[in-house]
Amino acid sequence: MLENLSAKIHETADYLTSIGFGNADFGLILGSGLGDLAEEIENPIIADYADIPNFPASKVAGHAGKLVYGELSGKKVIAMQGRFHYYEGHDMQTVTMPVRVMKLLGADSLLVTNAAGGISFGPGTLMLISDHINFTANHPLIGDNLDEFGPRFPDMSDAYTRDYREIAKRVAAENKVALSEGVYMGFSGPTYETPAEIRFAETIGADAVGMSTVPEVIVAAHSGMKVLGISAITNHAAGKQAELNHEEVVAVTTQIKEDFKLFVKSVLAAL
Ligand code: 6GU
Repeated sequence: MLENLSAKIHETADYLTSIGFGNADFGLILGSGLGDLAEEIENPIIADYADIPNFPASKVAGHAGKLVYGELSGKKVIAMQGRFHYYEGHDMQTVTMPVRVMKLLGADSLLVTNAAGGISFGPGTLMLISDHINFTANHPLIGDNLDEFGPRFPDMSDAYTRDYREIAKRVAAENKVALSEGVYMGFSGPTYETPAEIRFAETIGADAVGMSTVPEVIVAAHSGMKVLGISAITNHAAGKQAELNHEEVVAVTTQIKEDFKLFVKSVLAAL
């Protein structure tokens, strides 16, 4: 199983190299509705997930399912336009496999984004992730350790790299982009939370909730990657507003897209 996983990661990286993916500085994971940024990547080499060995096809609306290699803000990037979610039924190793592929292709940094529900912040807020709470009831590093990537018991005390957060805050101020900062709590989904779950989340220190990011960041931290995480708050979490639906989330995301794109490009240039 373990050798299998490692072999798969290498096979995928080798395939991408064979179609022209070169050395990367940054891995970029673009969340729900935020994938447009991949269209601004220069000199792109584009691979459909369906054509990449060991990548499952992503099916949720608003998730394009493409891996794009090229330049953005002067950095070599590998961008995921759409990610794999645990709630789709993929196991945690599959959800996080692209991060390890990025690492093999040279990326020592990960810029990860998501659409999230706000507890401390309202719709339209960009929230720098300072830390996370893994509430998925699973963990991507359970099982034999992949020693080639990192240690058995990885430190998580600076998973969302402090230097990167300082730079992000400076860039936001320079560009007059309003930027909040807070703790992201990752749930498995696919249901949104109950009001009681949101009261619990708030009590234990969560500022935003979502269904992604936590597994990918754990795997990035395991392999020593520096991480910058940004949540686009698309709606109030349950109990803070009327009921939620996926269309609503997509609609608000469309509005904050422009701010988001400008900000991510400026941050990338500065990192
Ligand atoms: Cl309210 N909850 C979760 N888990 N994910 C979300 C969300 C809420 N809003 C957008 N994504």
